[in-house]
Amino acid sequence: MDGKCCTCRAPVNIAVIKYWGKRDEKLILPVNSSLSATLGMDELHAKTSVAASSQFKDDRIWLNGKEESVSNPRIQNVLKEIRRRYAQKGDGDSAVMKVHICSENNFPTAAGLASSAAGYACMVYTLARLYGVDGELSEVARQGSGSACRSVYGGFVLWEKGQRSDGTDSLAKQIAPADHWPALRILILVVSDQKKQVGSTEGMQTTVATSELMQRRIEVVPQHTEQMIKAIKDRDFETFARITMQESNQFHAVCLDTYPPVFYLTDTSRLIIQMVHAYNTMCEKTRVAYTFDAGPNACLYLMEEDVARVVGLVNHFFPPGSDTSENFVRGRPVTLLEQPSQEELAHFQIPRSESAIKYMIHTKVGSGPEELNEEESLLTSSGLPK
Ligand code: DP6
Repeated sequence: MDGKCCTCRAPVNIAVIKYWGKRDEKLILPVNSSLSATLGMDELHAKTSVAASSQFKDDRIWLNGKEESVSNPRIQNVLKEIRRRYAQKGDGDSAVMKVHICSENNFPTAAGLASSAAGYACMVYTLARLYGVDGELSEVARQGSGSACRSVYGGFVLWEKGQRSDGTDSLAKQIAPADHWPALRILILVVSDQKKQVGSTEGMQTTVATSELMQRRIEVVPQHTEQMIKAIKDRDFETFARITMQESNQFHAVCLDTYPPVFYLTDTSRLIIQMVHAYNTMCEKTRVAYTFDAGPNACLYLMEEDVARVVGLVNHFFPPGSDTSENFVRGRPVTLLEQPSQEELAHFQIPRSESAIKYMIHTKVGSGPEELNEEESLLTSSGLPK
């Protein structure tokens, strides 16, 4: 293994059944199961290089161009677990070498998108490749960040909460592959005012400690999950969309029921919610779903045939200003930018807000982590960032 280096990329995932609340903080065991779609890596991914060498004195890590401390307990847990599995194999050089880890996202961290999921999934996958460790990697990624365990797989992914106190059954599994629902598309609307928010880890701790509604949520999530799995398997968009929106709303309701309350949605987020419901009412069918994580950005799930029309509406109600006009629609090309007609606009009782959305990212459901060629490495041959 001496002098070896490995580079991989891993995807972002967006939950349609939300993970919010732990029953074990150290092992990161959730109070409920959750379910997500993995997003396309051409549009959004984390990339990580790991080098191991007997020449290295310490483990070191660089995240998005800045050296960070490896003493972070979550990084330590991940490293320890991979090394434990490597030692267990017993066929290698048991003197464990120090590693240099370098990781970057291909999307701006300022976009406020869940980057810890892709980041930890990528770190775990790359370390496992380098050390030649197999076995269930979602169990390791989970110990970096809960949502990261779902980024270990492509397609639609269920994280089963498990029962055991050692976490060995709290694992992610794919319920449908990336190409299962080819017409499904995802639009991420990056909202401009990114105020400092309460982090997920802290926010969910306070919710579990103080929210009474959370008890009710724990009771209903199993039903939501069962219906969601069926909707995905049947490609039943209406049910998929309804549960996705209800789940997002319930998650934000328990945030409001947290004491002191936690607010992630902003006025722009609420206008997006209104726009989606008005669109569905106009179509007399549920054709678009929104979901929001621990921040104001919207993630819309919709069918390919609706993309141009919805992008046209976003462009109309949230027109780019002088600071936001560059590359307003990123990612997969949007073939036709339709301008909404006056007749259509009459269905929407919402004001226009210039510059409220910075840009959109158009993507679809994608595959799991993958190894990249040597030329893609973020580290030089001496193991320092390029
Ligand atoms: C709202 O996975 O970031 O995005 O396990 O403490 O690292 P930790 O939390 P994290 O929480 C994500 C919460 C969410 C919902 C979800 O992704 O399911």
